Amino acid sequence: NKKGLVFSGARPTGRQHLGNLLGAIQNYVGLQQDYDCIYSIVDIHALTTVETTVDLKQNCLEMALDWLAAGINPDQSIMFVQSHVPQVMELHTILSMMVSLGKLTDLPTFKEKVRMHPNNVNYGLVGYPVLMSADILLYKANAVPVGIDQAPHLEFTREVVRTFNYRVGKQVLVEPQMKVTQFTKVMGLDGVNKMSKSLDNEIEIAADAETTRKRVMTMVTDTQRIRRTDPGNPDVCNVFSFHKMFSSQAEVDTIEQECRSAGIGCVDCKKKLAVNLNNSLEPLRSRRHEFESKPDQVWEILYDGADRARKIADQTMLEVREAVGL
Ligand code: ADP
Ligand code: NA
Repeated sequence: NKKGLVFSGARPTGRQHLGNLLGAIQNYVGLQQDYDCIYSIVDIHALTTVETTVDLKQNCLEMALDWLAAGINPDQSIMFVQSHVPQVMELHTILSMMVSLGKLTDLPTFKEKVRMHPNNVNYGLVGYPVLMSADILLYKANAVPVGIDQAPHLEFTREVVRTFNYRVGKQVLVEPQMKVTQFTKVMGLDGVNKMSKSLDNEIEIAADAETTRKRVMTMVTDTQRIRRTDPGNPDVCNVFSFHKMFSSQAEVDTIEQECRSAGIGCVDCKKKLAVNLNNSLEPLRSRRHEFESKPDQVWEILYDGADRARKIADQTMLEVREAVGL
């Protein structure tokens, strides 16, 4: 009765922020309705760029906590840590013999990473899209949710499938459909950049109410509005964008009017936002607290997910080895 199998992976970046929640996690949660879903915390991918791995396990756990709190249902979906199903590395190696190096180094995402980490262009970084392909193909996913910037990677994966199947003369691997999603882009507290941990402009899902309130009070509003008596322009105000995401329509309408007429000041506007934001995150945060108090149970969920994923992976690898002649 489901439409197919969705696979998506995200690097273990630790505690997730509102950008991750609205831009990715809520989408994951929604897809569970119509698809069988496999969500992977891709710790092997993280090794391509992290300097130290001391936090890696903890970051996997923190991310799993946020996923569970947001509503990823482990009874329904498979949620696991990539390295717990090492078959992905075997498939990666086999696929790596079938892809062109030039194609990999031409990908815009690779060029961007070289620009960002010029002194750490390791072999694994070049193969990042091959590992991503192995992830998707190991589970024979039918659909992969991607933002438009990730589209070249998925197109690459589809090419890998065609090459592989052509070489072995059999339809072994499955070409995944690109499920291009219009992701909500959440701006950071600075109102200029995308919300991101590395820019320290984020609000963590797991932050407590007081920390959240303090963060909200630092948000940049309409920079043209200098004095309290100046009318503001909600169209250019990041706080107003957040109201649209977290406040009721009635309150959004009132704030819009009052801002334009200088009826409400930015400080009060932010106070209201903090209250509404905390209210909407409260259920999620209390679920997170429950899971936080039982980390062993969360690891069990991840191990169970890996067991289920491994069954699929083993079957695919039998077919792949046989097809390749290994
Ligand atoms: P990765 O490098 O694995 O993409 P990120 O933490 O940058 O790690 O992103 C994880 C997911 O969260 C991605 O799907 C990304 O598009 C989404 N995301 C991150 N930041 C934002 C943001 N500010 N607004 C919307 N979505 C975001
Ligand atoms: Na990602």
